[in-house]
Amino acid sequence: MDKIAIIGGERLFGEIPISGAKNSAIKLMAASLLTDQPLRLTNMPRLADTRFLGRLLQRLGAELIERDGPDGSETVLHTPEILGAIAPYDLVRQMRASFNVLGPLIARTGHAKVSLPGGCTIGARPVDLHLKALEALGAQIDLHEGYVFAQAPRGLRGAEITFPFVSVGATEHAMLAAVLAEGVTVLYNAACEPEIGDLADCLTMMGAKIEGKGTSTLVITGVTRLGGGTHSVIADRIETGTYAVAAAMAGGEVRLTKTQSGFIQSLLDLMVKAGVGVEPTPDGMIIRRGEGRLEAVDVHTDPFPGFATDLQAQFMALMTTARGESVIRETIFENRFMHAPELARLGAEISVHGGEARVTGVDRLNGAEVMATDLRASVSLVIAGLAAKGETVVNRVYHLDRGFERLEEKLGACGAQVRRIKGAASDEG
Ligand code: UD1
Repeated sequence: MDKIAIIGGERLFGEIPISGAKNSAIKLMAASLLTDQPLRLTNMPRLADTRFLGRLLQRLGAELIERDGPDGSETVLHTPEILGAIAPYDLVRQMRASFNVLGPLIARTGHAKVSLPGGCTIGARPVDLHLKALEALGAQIDLHEGYVFAQAPRGLRGAEITFPFVSVGATEHAMLAAVLAEGVTVLYNAACEPEIGDLADCLTMMGAKIEGKGTSTLVITGVTRLGGGTHSVIADRIETGTYAVAAAMAGGEVRLTKTQSGFIQSLLDLMVKAGVGVEPTPDGMIIRRGEGRLEAVDVHTDPFPGFATDLQAQFMALMTTARGESVIRETIFENRFMHAPELARLGAEISVHGGEARVTGVDRLNGAEVMATDLRASVSLVIAGLAAKGETVVNRVYHLDRGFERLEEKLGACGAQVRRIKGAASDEG
């Protein structure tokens, strides 16, 4: 398994282009199953997660072409016919969002057998809301032997669905099924994350009728068929926020391009409060940090436009050397502080009680060997390593490779001393 070694203390100067959003790309790839025409996705990130899903889609009958295009990497997915409508455990377990093929398979073929995603390191993460939404749309769902067996012999039909709390995945899943259902579907308390808007834009380009984009009520009028076309994946707001925090942690001046500051406004507001310079630009932002210490600020995670749970670990890393105490509350996922003990190995002072972590800033961190526990937690250790004295070695970086494209290259181009130590191959890809 690969490791990443960082020698801390270098200030960062330069430009980092942000890639297409992983969390959008994988739902758009699933949307390709809704049509027998080719869907061309541009600005595609090349990540372990997109590779996992690509394999599953090929198993389901997709022809997949990956190539370089004028807008960076692109993927063309074409599924003239669904072969089997079965998503096996060995492919779904590698990436939870693979479960989102269930809705499109039912919508297109009237039946599907998809493995339940199984456990995950950031809490229980059930899929009950996904299944309830599909049932409301007319699917008969049976669970046995770890699989969802779904049938909609007479097709899906529109329904009013009220989510009891905001779920990104369940909102997307309901959209992916409702676009081909007969009649009107209304989704209340829908998630408003930019990736939902991106999915709505792509589906609309394919011929779907969706109103209410960007709001918590989505009205979808089903159509009988969708076509193909070209769609450019939106910028990755989590990657954007991660590099903004990295620049703030290391100090210096970094320009983030090919993105939008509005995607991470709640993070940027807190960074400004802590003493970081933030200048929005037409295609991103400039992050500046001088020599002095930052001030501790409190944060709690929330659905968009609130502070993203996927940026919580990175922000905790930033707070480890701020002046004072920062209270960090995680409200979206249970068990999402696994980075805290690893940050403590670098000298951070953090106490965790339930969904709340208290971080008391220290003068400096010291490099050590640490272990990546999940995707966003792993990058928080890299961020901490950028400011730690000496060498930090992050083990199990396959977590990181699931969601960050060319991380060493992007940070290295700004002067960071980050290198990958190649290890034996792991089954995680
Ligand atoms: C997506 C993102 C993930 C991000 C999260 C919240 C992808 C691939 N992943 O995950 O990076 O951290 O949004 O912004 O896009 N829940 C249920 N039942 C369900 C579904 C969810 O109880 O059927 C709970 C979850 O356990 C969690 C909360 O709802 O506590 C929110 O989860 P959700 O928004 O669904 O996250 P994901 O779509 O899994």
